Amino acid sequence: MTRSRIAGIGHYVPERVVTNQHLEEIMDTADEWIIERTGIRERRFGVRTKETTTTMGARAAEKAIEDAGINKDDIDFIIFATLSPDYFFPGCGVLLQRELGVTQTEIGALDIRNQCSGFIYGLSVADQFVKTGMYKNILLVGAEMHSMGLDFTSRGRNVSVIFGDGAGAVIIQPTEEDRGILTSHLHSDGSYAEELCFISPGCHGGYHGEVEKYGFSDSEWDSIFITQKMLDDALIYPHMNGKFVFKVAINKFPEVIKEALEITGYSIPDLKLVIPHQANLRISQFVQKILRLRDDQIYNNIDRYGNTTAASIPIALSEACEAGRVVNGDLICLAAFGSGFTWGSVLLKW
Ligand code: ACO
Repeated sequence: MTRSRIAGIGHYVPERVVTNQHLEEIMDTADEWIIERTGIRERRFGVRTKETTTTMGARAAEKAIEDAGINKDDIDFIIFATLSPDYFFPGCGVLLQRELGVTQTEIGALDIRNQCSGFIYGLSVADQFVKTGMYKNILLVGAEMHSMGLDFTSRGRNVSVIFGDGAGAVIIQPTEEDRGILTSHLHSDGSYAEELCFISPGCHGGYHGEVEKYGFSDSEWDSIFITQKMLDDALIYPHMNGKFVFKVAINKFPEVIKEALEITGYSIPDLKLVIPHQANLRISQFVQKILRLRDDQIYNNIDRYGNTTAASIPIALSEACEAGRVVNGDLICLAAFGSGFTWGSVLLKW
Protein backbone atom coordinates (compact mmCIF):
# COMPACT_ATOMS: atom_id res chain seq x y z
CA MET A 1 0.00 0.00 0.00
CA THR A 2 1.41 3.37 -1.00
CA ARG A 3 1.61 5.94 1.77
CA SER A 4 3.18 9.34 1.81
CA ARG A 5 5.99 10.27 4.14
CA ILE A 6 7.99 13.28 5.16
CA ALA A 7 11.28 12.60 3.39
CA GLY A 8 12.98 15.89 4.21
CA ILE A 9 12.45 18.73 6.65
CA GLY A 10 13.95 22.12 7.46
CA HIS A 11 13.17 25.39 9.16
CA TYR A 12 14.33 28.98 9.13
CA VAL A 13 13.76 31.90 11.50
CA PRO A 14 14.96 35.48 11.08
CA GLU A 15 18.06 36.50 13.05
CA ARG A 16 16.46 39.41 14.88
CA VAL A 17 15.41 38.34 18.39
CA VAL A 18 12.70 40.46 20.00
CA THR A 19 12.37 39.83 23.72
CA ASN A 20 9.46 40.73 25.98
CA GLN A 21 11.69 43.50 27.35
CA HIS A 22 11.93 44.98 23.86
CA LEU A 23 8.14 45.06 23.72
CA GLU A 24 8.00 46.69 27.17
CA GLU A 25 9.92 49.60 25.62
CA ILE A 26 7.28 50.30 22.96
CA MET A 27 3.97 49.40 24.62
CA ASP A 28 2.35 49.08 28.02
CA THR A 29 3.10 45.43 28.69
CA ALA A 30 5.20 43.38 31.08
CA ASP A 31 7.53 40.41 30.71
CA GLU A 32 5.76 38.64 33.61
CA TRP A 33 2.30 39.20 32.07
CA ILE A 34 3.40 37.73 28.73
CA ILE A 35 5.18 34.73 30.27
CA GLU A 36 2.35 33.92 32.65
CA ARG A 37 -0.43 34.16 30.03
CA THR A 38 1.38 32.77 27.00
CA GLY A 39 4.73 31.20 27.95
CA ILE A 40 6.49 33.42 25.38
CA ARG A 41 9.87 34.94 26.27
CA GLU A 42 11.05 36.03 22.84
CA ARG A 43 10.18 35.81 19.18
CA ARG A 44 11.91 36.48 15.84
CA PHE A 45 10.99 39.41 13.61
CA GLY A 46 11.95 39.55 9.95
CA VAL A 47 10.33 42.85 9.06
CA ARG A 48 12.66 45.53 7.65
CA THR A 49 15.48 43.00 7.18
CA LYS A 50 14.71 42.37 3.50
CA GLU A 51 12.99 39.10 4.46
CA THR A 52 9.48 38.21 3.37
CA THR A 53 7.19 35.27 3.97
CA THR A 54 8.38 33.90 0.62
CA THR A 55 12.11 34.32 1.23
CA MET A 56 11.87 32.74 4.68
CA GLY A 57 9.87 29.90 3.13
CA ALA A 58 12.55 29.47 0.47
CA ARG A 59 15.35 29.21 3.05
CA ALA A 60 13.39 26.51 4.93
CA ALA A 61 12.58 24.78 1.63
CA GLU A 62 16.26 24.64 0.61
CA LYS A 63 17.05 22.83 3.87
CA ALA A 64 14.16 20.38 3.37
CA ILE A 65 15.28 19.68 -0.21
CA GLU A 66 18.83 18.99 0.98
CA ASP A 67 17.55 16.82 3.84
CA ALA A 68 15.50 14.75 1.38
CA GLY A 69 18.56 14.29 -0.82
CA ILE A 70 16.78 15.54 -3.92
CA ASN A 71 17.41 18.30 -6.41
CA LYS A 72 15.11 21.33 -6.45
CA ASP A 73 14.13 20.40 -10.02
CA ASP A 74 12.72 17.11 -8.70
CA ILE A 75 9.91 19.00 -6.95
CA ASP A 76 6.70 18.34 -8.84
CA PHE A 77 4.20 20.40 -6.81
CA ILE A 78 4.31 23.28 -4.33
CA ILE A 79 1.90 23.92 -1.47
CA PHE A 80 2.32 27.13 0.52
CA ALA A 81 0.39 27.78 3.73
CA THR A 82 0.37 31.29 5.19
CA LEU A 83 -1.94 34.01 6.49
CA SER A 84 0.68 36.70 5.90
CA PRO A 85 1.42 36.47 2.17
CA ASP A 86 3.77 38.89 0.43
CA TYR A 87 0.95 40.01 -1.86
CA PHE A 88 -2.84 39.95 -1.63
CA PHE A 89 -2.46 38.10 -4.93
CA PRO A 90 -0.75 36.18 -6.44
CA GLY A 91 -0.04 33.87 -3.54
CA CYS A 92 3.29 32.83 -2.08
CA GLY A 93 3.31 29.49 -3.97
CA VAL A 94 4.38 31.03 -7.25
CA LEU A 95 6.68 33.53 -5.54
CA LEU A 96 8.43 30.63 -3.83
CA GLN A 97 8.76 28.84 -7.15
CA ARG A 98 10.50 31.92 -8.56
CA GLU A 99 12.66 32.42 -5.44
CA LEU A 100 13.85 28.80 -5.64
CA GLY A 101 14.51 29.14 -9.38
CA VAL A 102 12.24 26.31 -10.47
CA THR A 103 9.96 28.15 -12.86
CA GLN A 104 11.25 26.28 -15.93
CA THR A 105 9.55 23.07 -14.81
CA GLU A 106 6.16 24.87 -14.74
CA ILE A 107 4.93 22.77 -11.81
CA GLY A 108 1.67 23.59 -10.08
CA ALA A 109 1.63 25.82 -7.00
CA LEU A 110 -1.23 25.91 -4.52
CA ASP A 111 -1.82 28.41 -1.72
CA ILE A 112 -3.52 27.33 1.49
CA ARG A 113 -5.31 29.92 3.63
CA ASN A 114 -6.18 28.05 6.78
CA GLN A 115 -4.22 30.12 9.25
CA CYS A 116 -2.96 28.09 12.24
CA SER A 117 -4.21 24.85 10.64
CA GLY A 118 -2.58 25.65 7.29
CA PHE A 119 0.26 23.18 7.63
CA ILE A 120 -2.07 20.33 8.69
CA TYR A 121 -4.43 21.09 5.80
CA GLY A 122 -1.44 21.24 3.44
CA LEU A 123 -0.10 17.93 4.69
CA SER A 124 -3.46 16.28 4.16
CA VAL A 125 -3.75 17.67 0.62
CA ALA A 126 -0.19 16.55 -0.19
CA ASP A 127 -0.98 13.12 1.24
CA GLN A 128 -3.91 12.65 -1.15
CA PHE A 129 -1.88 13.73 -4.20
CA VAL A 130 1.02 11.43 -3.32
CA LYS A 131 -1.10 8.40 -2.42
CA THR A 132 -2.92 8.57 -5.75
CA GLY A 133 0.42 8.63 -7.57
CA MET A 134 -0.10 12.10 -9.04
CA TYR A 135 3.04 13.64 -7.46
CA LYS A 136 6.26 12.20 -6.04
CA ASN A 137 8.07 15.16 -4.49
CA ILE A 138 5.72 17.75 -3.06
CA LEU A 139 7.25 20.76 -1.35
CA LEU A 140 5.01 21.95 1.48
CA VAL A 141 5.90 25.20 3.22
CA GLY A 142 4.35 26.97 6.20
CA ALA A 143 5.68 30.50 6.70
CA GLU A 144 4.62 33.73 8.37
CA MET A 145 5.79 37.32 8.57
CA HIS A 146 3.53 38.55 11.35
CA SER A 147 5.80 41.42 12.30
CA MET A 148 4.73 43.43 9.25
CA GLY A 149 1.09 43.65 10.32
CA LEU A 150 0.72 43.94 14.09
CA ASP A 151 -0.39 46.91 16.14
CA PHE A 152 2.70 47.69 18.22
CA THR A 153 0.93 50.29 20.35
CA SER A 154 -0.64 49.44 23.72
CA ARG A 155 -3.99 49.26 21.90
CA GLY A 156 -2.92 46.03 20.18
CA ARG A 157 -0.98 44.46 23.05
CA ASN A 158 -3.30 41.50 23.65
CA VAL A 159 -2.50 40.23 20.14
CA SER A 160 0.87 41.65 19.14
CA VAL A 161 2.87 40.10 22.00
CA ILE A 162 1.84 36.62 20.87
CA PHE A 163 3.05 36.38 17.29
CA GLY A 164 6.43 35.80 15.68
CA ASP A 165 7.97 35.13 12.27
CA GLY A 166 9.48 31.99 10.77
CA ALA A 167 9.14 29.19 8.25
CA GLY A 168 9.19 25.42 8.06
CA ALA A 169 9.18 23.10 5.05
CA VAL A 170 8.85 19.43 4.24
CA ILE A 171 9.23 17.21 1.18
CA ILE A 172 6.46 14.63 0.83
CA GLN A 173 7.26 11.45 -1.09
CA PRO A 174 5.54 8.09 -1.64
CA THR A 175 6.69 5.04 0.30
CA GLU A 176 5.80 1.35 0.22
CA GLU A 177 7.29 0.84 3.69
CA ASP A 178 5.27 0.55 6.90
CA ARG A 179 5.64 4.23 7.76
CA GLY A 180 4.40 7.66 6.75
CA ILE A 181 1.07 9.42 7.17
CA LEU A 182 -1.47 7.01 8.69
CA THR A 183 -4.46 9.32 8.82
CA SER A 184 -5.46 12.99 8.63
CA HIS A 185 -8.55 14.77 9.94
CA LEU A 186 -9.72 18.22 8.89
CA HIS A 187 -12.50 20.25 10.49
CA SER A 188 -13.96 23.73 10.48
CA ASP A 189 -16.80 25.79 11.91
CA GLY A 190 -17.31 29.11 10.16
CA SER A 191 -19.78 30.30 12.80
CA TYR A 192 -16.83 31.83 14.63
CA ALA A 193 -15.00 33.46 11.71
CA GLU A 194 -14.83 36.89 13.38
CA GLU A 195 -13.56 35.66 16.77
CA LEU A 196 -10.02 35.45 15.38
CA CYS A 197 -9.59 37.40 12.18
CA PHE A 198 -7.84 40.03 10.09
CA ILE A 199 -10.76 41.52 8.18
CA SER A 200 -9.60 44.70 6.55
CA PRO A 201 -8.43 45.56 4.02
CA GLY A 202 -10.68 43.08 2.29
CA CYS A 203 -13.56 42.83 -0.15
CA HIS A 204 -16.36 42.35 2.37
CA GLY A 205 -17.80 45.84 1.83
CA GLY A 206 -19.34 45.77 5.29
CA TYR A 207 -21.60 42.90 4.31
CA HIS A 208 -20.67 40.74 7.30
CA GLY A 209 -20.82 43.58 9.82
CA GLU A 210 -22.03 47.09 10.41
CA VAL A 211 -21.36 49.29 7.39
CA GLU A 212 -20.68 52.31 9.65
CA LYS A 213 -18.00 50.44 11.54
CA TYR A 214 -15.76 50.44 8.47
CA GLY A 215 -16.53 54.00 7.34
CA PHE A 216 -17.94 53.25 3.91
CA SER A 217 -19.34 56.29 2.08
CA ASP A 218 -22.56 56.46 0.07
CA SER A 219 -20.67 56.97 -3.18
CA GLU A 220 -20.73 53.83 -5.25
CA TRP A 221 -17.31 54.72 -6.68
CA ASP A 222 -15.38 55.20 -3.43
CA SER A 223 -12.94 52.46 -2.52
CA ILE A 224 -14.34 50.08 0.03
CA PHE A 225 -11.21 47.96 0.18
CA ILE A 226 -9.59 50.30 2.67
CA THR A 227 -11.09 53.43 4.23
CA GLN A 228 -9.65 56.17 6.42
CA LYS A 229 -11.82 54.93 9.27
CA MET A 230 -10.26 51.48 9.07
CA LEU A 231 -6.85 53.11 9.49
CA ASP A 232 -7.98 55.48 12.27
CA ASP A 233 -9.76 52.76 14.24
CA ALA A 234 -6.99 50.16 13.86
CA LEU A 235 -9.32 47.86 11.93
CA ILE A 236 -6.39 46.88 9.76
CA TYR A 237 -4.89 44.69 12.48
CA PRO A 238 -5.70 41.17 13.64
CA HIS A 239 -8.54 40.82 16.13
CA MET A 240 -8.78 38.02 18.68
CA ASN A 241 -11.37 37.15 21.30
CA GLY A 242 -8.66 35.50 23.39
CA LYS A 243 -10.80 33.96 26.11
CA PHE A 244 -13.22 32.41 23.61
CA VAL A 245 -10.40 31.09 21.41
CA PHE A 246 -8.83 29.55 24.50
CA LYS A 247 -12.04 27.80 25.52
CA VAL A 248 -12.68 26.24 22.12
CA ALA A 249 -9.02 25.37 21.48
CA ILE A 250 -8.61 23.29 24.63
CA ASN A 251 -11.58 21.16 23.55
CA LYS A 252 -10.79 20.80 19.86
CA PHE A 253 -7.09 19.91 20.21
CA PRO A 254 -7.71 16.79 22.35
CA GLU A 255 -10.80 15.85 20.32
CA VAL A 256 -8.98 15.79 16.99
CA ILE A 257 -5.93 14.00 18.42
CA LYS A 258 -8.20 11.29 19.88
CA GLU A 259 -10.00 11.04 16.53
CA ALA A 260 -6.72 10.18 14.78
CA LEU A 261 -5.80 7.62 17.45
CA GLU A 262 -9.19 5.94 17.50
CA ILE A 263 -9.42 5.44 13.74
CA THR A 264 -5.96 3.84 13.63
CA GLY A 265 -6.34 1.75 16.79
CA TYR A 266 -3.56 3.50 18.70
CA SER A 267 -3.75 5.05 22.14
CA ILE A 268 -1.99 7.82 24.06
CA PRO A 269 0.86 5.66 25.46
CA ASP A 270 1.78 4.66 21.88
CA LEU A 271 2.61 8.27 21.02
CA LYS A 272 6.26 9.24 21.01
CA LEU A 273 5.49 12.89 20.50
CA VAL A 274 2.54 15.25 20.08
CA ILE A 275 3.44 18.43 18.24
CA PRO A 276 0.61 20.89 18.70
CA HIS A 277 0.43 24.17 16.84
CA GLN A 278 2.30 26.52 19.17
CA ALA A 279 -0.65 28.80 19.92
CA ASN A 280 -0.02 29.53 23.56
CA LEU A 281 1.83 27.50 26.19
CA ARG A 282 -1.24 27.50 28.45
CA ILE A 283 -3.31 25.90 25.68
CA SER A 284 -0.66 23.20 25.15
CA GLN A 285 -0.46 22.57 28.91
CA PHE A 286 -4.23 22.09 29.04
CA VAL A 287 -4.05 19.66 26.11
CA GLN A 288 -1.25 17.75 27.84
CA LYS A 289 -3.30 17.51 31.03
CA ILE A 290 -6.53 16.45 29.32
CA LEU A 291 -4.73 13.73 27.32
CA ARG A 292 -2.48 12.74 30.25
CA LEU A 293 0.65 13.12 28.17
CA ARG A 294 4.01 12.90 29.91
CA ASP A 295 6.29 15.94 29.58
CA ASP A 296 8.47 14.10 27.06
CA GLN A 297 5.41 13.35 24.88
CA ILE A 298 4.66 16.97 23.97
CA TYR A 299 6.86 19.47 22.18
CA ASN A 300 6.89 23.16 23.14
CA ASN A 301 9.10 25.89 21.71
CA ILE A 302 6.74 28.86 21.92
CA ASP A 303 9.00 30.43 24.57
CA ARG A 304 11.58 31.12 21.83
CA TYR A 305 9.48 31.84 18.74
CA GLY A 306 6.03 32.97 19.87
CA ASN A 307 3.10 31.84 17.76
CA THR A 308 4.23 31.45 14.14
CA THR A 309 0.84 30.21 12.90
CA ALA A 310 1.27 28.03 9.77
CA ALA A 311 5.00 27.74 10.45
CA SER A 312 4.81 26.57 14.05
CA ILE A 313 4.33 22.83 13.49
CA PRO A 314 7.04 22.36 10.82
CA ILE A 315 9.50 24.48 12.85
CA ALA A 316 8.80 22.38 15.95
CA LEU A 317 8.97 19.08 14.04
CA SER A 318 12.23 20.12 12.38
CA GLU A 319 13.74 21.06 15.75
CA ALA A 320 12.53 17.80 17.32
CA CYS A 321 14.21 15.84 14.52
CA GLU A 322 17.46 17.78 14.94
CA ALA A 323 17.35 17.09 18.68
CA GLY A 324 16.91 13.35 18.08
CA ARG A 325 13.46 13.34 19.64
CA VAL A 326 11.99 11.79 16.49
CA VAL A 327 13.54 8.65 15.02
CA ASN A 328 12.43 5.99 12.51
CA GLY A 329 9.31 4.13 13.61
CA ASP A 330 8.13 6.76 16.13
CA LEU A 331 4.42 7.53 16.23
CA ILE A 332 3.94 11.30 15.95
CA CYS A 333 0.73 13.29 16.14
CA LEU A 334 0.55 16.80 14.70
CA ALA A 335 -2.49 18.88 15.61
CA ALA A 336 -3.66 22.43 15.05
CA PHE A 337 -6.50 24.76 15.90
CA GLY A 338 -7.02 28.32 14.79
CA SER A 339 -8.87 31.05 12.94
CA GLY A 340 -11.93 29.98 11.01
CA PHE A 341 -12.31 28.15 13.26
CA THR A 342 -10.38 25.38 11.56
CA TRP A 343 -8.62 22.47 13.19
CA GLY A 344 -7.08 19.14 12.27
CA SER A 345 -4.62 16.38 13.02
CA VAL A 346 -2.19 14.13 11.21
CA LEU A 347 -0.93 10.87 12.71
CA LEU A 348 2.26 9.56 11.18
CA LYS A 349 4.88 6.91 11.68
CA TRP A 350 8.34 8.47 11.15
N1 ACO B 1 0.32 43.14 28.53
C1 ACO B 1 -0.23 43.57 29.67
N2 ACO B 1 -1.54 43.58 29.89
C2 ACO B 1 -2.34 43.13 28.89
C3 ACO B 1 -1.81 42.67 27.67
C4 ACO B 1 -0.41 42.69 27.52
N3 ACO B 1 0.19 42.27 26.39
N4 ACO B 1 -2.84 42.27 26.88
C5 ACO B 1 -3.95 42.49 27.57
N5 ACO B 1 -3.65 43.00 28.79
C6 ACO B 1 -4.55 43.37 29.86
C7 ACO B 1 -5.91 43.78 29.34
O1 ACO B 1 -5.93 45.13 28.95
C8 ACO B 1 -6.77 43.53 30.54
O2 ACO B 1 -6.59 44.59 31.45
P1 ACO B 1 -7.84 45.13 32.31
O3 ACO B 1 -8.27 43.97 33.15
O4 ACO B 1 -7.22 46.24 33.07
O5 ACO B 1 -8.85 45.53 31.30
C9 ACO B 1 -6.14 42.29 31.16
O6 ACO B 1 -4.81 42.23 30.68
C10 ACO B 1 -6.85 41.03 30.75
O7 ACO B 1 -7.09 41.10 29.35
P2 ACO B 1 -7.71 39.96 28.52
O8 ACO B 1 -7.75 40.31 27.08
O9 ACO B 1 -9.00 39.56 29.19
O10 ACO B 1 -6.58 38.92 28.73
P3 ACO B 1 -6.68 37.39 29.00
O11 ACO B 1 -6.56 37.13 30.44
O12 ACO B 1 -7.82 36.77 28.27
O13 ACO B 1 -5.35 36.94 28.29
C11 ACO B 1 -4.72 35.96 26.24
C12 ACO B 1 -5.17 37.21 26.94
C13 ACO B 1 -3.31 35.60 26.72
C14 ACO B 1 -4.65 36.19 24.75
C15 ACO B 1 -5.70 34.85 26.61
O14 ACO B 1 -7.01 35.23 26.30
C16 ACO B 1 -5.40 33.58 25.97
O15 ACO B 1 -4.53 32.86 26.41
N6 ACO B 1 -6.13 33.26 24.86
C17 ACO B 1 -5.91 32.13 24.06
C18 ACO B 1 -5.82 32.54 22.68
C19 ACO B 1 -4.45 32.50 22.15
O16 ACO B 1 -3.47 32.33 22.82
N7 ACO B 1 -4.36 32.62 20.87
C20 ACO B 1 -3.15 32.52 20.22
C21 ACO B 1 -3.33 32.90 18.82
S1 ACO B 1 -4.65 32.05 18.09
C22 ACO B 1 -4.17 30.50 17.75
O17 ACO B 1 -3.05 30.28 17.44
C23 ACO B 1 -5.14 29.43 17.89
